Amino acid sequence: MYFDPKDGMKPPPFAHTVYNALVVPRPIGWISTISTAGVINLAPYSFFNALCGDPPCVMYCPNGYKTGTTEPKDSLTNVRETGEFVYNMCTFDLLEPMNASSAHVPASVDEMAAAGLEAGECMQVKPPRVKNSPIALECKVLQILDLPPTRNDVPNTTVIGQVVGIHVDDDVIVDGKIDAAKMQPLARLGYLDYAKITADTIFTVPRPD
Ligand SMILES: Cc1cc2nc3c(=O)[nH]c(=O)nc-3n(C[C@H](O)[C@H](O)[C@H](O)COP(=O)(O)O)c2cc1C
Repeated sequence: MYFDPKDGMKPPPFAHTVYNALVVPRPIGWISTISTAGVINLAPYSFFNALCGDPPCVMYCPNGYKTGTTEPKDSLTNVRETGEFVYNMCTFDLLEPMNASSAHVPASVDEMAAAGLEAGECMQVKPPRVKNSPIALECKVLQILDLPPTRNDVPNTTVIGQVVGIHVDDDVIVDGKIDAAKMQPLARLGYLDYAKITADTIFTVPRPD
């Protein structure tokens, strides 16, 4: 089949918005920020990726509003005001708190504490990292871009940041490499589906040159 996204993202026979299932798997950027009032915010973003490696840059996309409001998501308000965020890797053992941190709660709620997570200190930015996450990237905002809004004029935004500090749990460094099987990173699929990386799903392919 072929469809034009201008006609909507649920063309027959799709019963649900289909786009999220078309670009998979996606990494999950578990983004911590802090408000100017000092409240810690945490939320998962699967419109997230690494953009370049040297200097390392990443991006995440706060799209839409907080449910039932026309207020921007806290992860957007906070970076606009402070220029800082932290990427935390979401691993299989952190699935539940990651999902809990996607709830829309007032900006006054510390979402790290609410999800039962311990905050770890950062070196170069104010927002804390998720202490139990094996990888955290401290980021400073480079640009915030407005993407085209939805057909109902709901905003879509991209936050691009440069990584200024990198935390790696020593336990996942094996023989001088990062051991992905030990971390079991989560991947986002469409709908409410996820996948996890485990030893039996990893294989190595040499490059042709
Ligand atoms: C796995 C997962 C991925 C998500 N990815 C996105 C995303 O890429 N963009 C987005 O706007 N919301 C995304 N959400 C929803 C946000 O996490 C949710 O709106 C959250 O409440 C935003 O919190 P905040 O207001 O604290 O920033 C995702 C939710 C889950 C569970």
